[in-house]
Amino acid sequence: VGVQQAQGPKVVITAGPTREPIDPVRYISNHSSGKMGYALAAAAQALGCQVTLVSGPTQLACPSGVTRVDVESAEQMLAACLSEVAQTDIFIAAAAVADYRLAEVAVHKLKKDQSQQGLTLNLVENPDIVATIAQHQQRPALVVGFAAETQKVQAYALAKLQRKGLDMMIANDVSNPEIGFHSDHNAVTLITKDRQQAFDIQSKKELAHQLMTEILQAYTNQESL
Ligand code: C5P
Repeated sequence: VGVQQAQGPKVVITAGPTREPIDPVRYISNHSSGKMGYALAAAAQALGCQVTLVSGPTQLACPSGVTRVDVESAEQMLAACLSEVAQTDIFIAAAAVADYRLAEVAVHKLKKDQSQQGLTLNLVENPDIVATIAQHQQRPALVVGFAAETQKVQAYALAKLQRKGLDMMIANDVSNPEIGFHSDHNAVTLITKDRQQAFDIQSKKELAHQLMTEILQAYTNQESL
């Protein structure tokens, strides 16, 4: 049984926020807790997968049996994912990647301007990590993304799936205050180009187990084609 476990598919999961430096002491980030990505990593490990968690800064402990690669910025997260891509069977993007980073990071701490002119930060777009992996020459067999929406959840998630070239989207309605971000609970819709399946509100741990089971089934079905 132990040998069988080590031979399960290789799963790479991104989780948490990214942190985009402004200067040596400041950064731009978001409120992602990383809970959903970590729960998916624990579930995948329990289901016999070899799991690497590429994680932005979080307060969470690494699930046992999971390999964690710690990163801060989106560019570091992309580099870590690319270094795994050739060995990855299933890629799951649960991270809340900052859409923008500073065009130039200041080498020294920025000083407050005495002229009270305010401060303008010059931002450039970050790479789209999941889209880059999905379009890679050594594309994993299954690429899964998350879509946090506040309206037309299914339609927007399906459009995102097509635009990024993904196999599956896990969509959640973040306008509902009971679920999402720092919550321990979530409710989602699993979306592929052919079907949609709703998962009612439940703990992120239980939900992660159900989603990972679906993801592994999709991976196995694809393999046998
Ligand atoms: O386009 P949007 O940010 O809503 O897409 C969300 C999905 O794309 C998530 O799976 C997220 O992890 C992934 N993403 C990414 N790299 C980015 C932005 C989003 O991997 N730069």
